Amino acid sequence: MSIDMTKVWAHRGASAYAPENTIPAFQMAMEMGADGLELDVHESSDGKLMVIHDERIDRTSNGTGRVVDMTCQQLKKLDFSNGMPGYKDVRIPTLREVYGLIKDSRMTVNVEIKCDVVIYPGIWDKVISLEREMGMQGRIIYSSFNHYVLQKVRELDPDAEIGLLYANAMVDPWVYAKYLNANAIHPNYRAALLCPSLMEGCVKNGVAVNPWTVNEAKDVMALAAKGANAVITNCPDVALRALGR
Ligand code: G3P
Ligand code: CA
Repeated sequence: MSIDMTKVWAHRGASAYAPENTIPAFQMAMEMGADGLELDVHESSDGKLMVIHDERIDRTSNGTGRVVDMTCQQLKKLDFSNGMPGYKDVRIPTLREVYGLIKDSRMTVNVEIKCDVVIYPGIWDKVISLEREMGMQGRIIYSSFNHYVLQKVRELDPDAEIGLLYANAMVDPWVYAKYLNANAIHPNYRAALLCPSLMEGCVKNGVAVNPWTVNEAKDVMALAAKGANAVITNCPDVALRALGR
């Protein structure tokens, strides 16, 4: 596989330059020419799919509290510019709004379903319903550190793309991926670079590898040379340049 086959997915949008998981960060990634977005989803108290990384809003907004305890309307009143120079009054997006933004492009979206600390029963139904309602079939890759959630997604939609997120080192991860009928693994990039035969084993067994968070050109190039399907990066411009695009 030549290195220009590797796709570039903007981690929480172009989050090195704009407030993470917000429309300006997604817009910037699109303008830079990224192939896709990675984003994180939680549920508000009124059951809306909210795009935000943490269970709490404290780190990235001027408010305090848990996403699950606030309505979408309450969350929308807060500023999520997260201290980024040049930004103010940036609102938290819903997943529906992000799909609206990129619908007419060719971008894919890696939706990370956050069920690590707070569990959102039925969130799997909601993401699949929204994908269908908005005509996004074939453009979404679901990932989660909670693999039970991905099993639910797989049960609901045999055609859904699922990627198993993990942080440390797993032996022969393609065996586990096949067992769960997953399309991809999403390892920490150091695991992808350092674990013996990880890339070779996955490529040989038809399991895509989408490592995160790859911010340095040398790592982007090394992973692309080993056959990574996509790199998930805070700096889409750096990754695109490293791949000669
Ligand atoms: O999906 C890759 C990466 O985003 C997983 O970790 O904590 O940044 O959501 P985190
Ligand atoms: Ca994530």
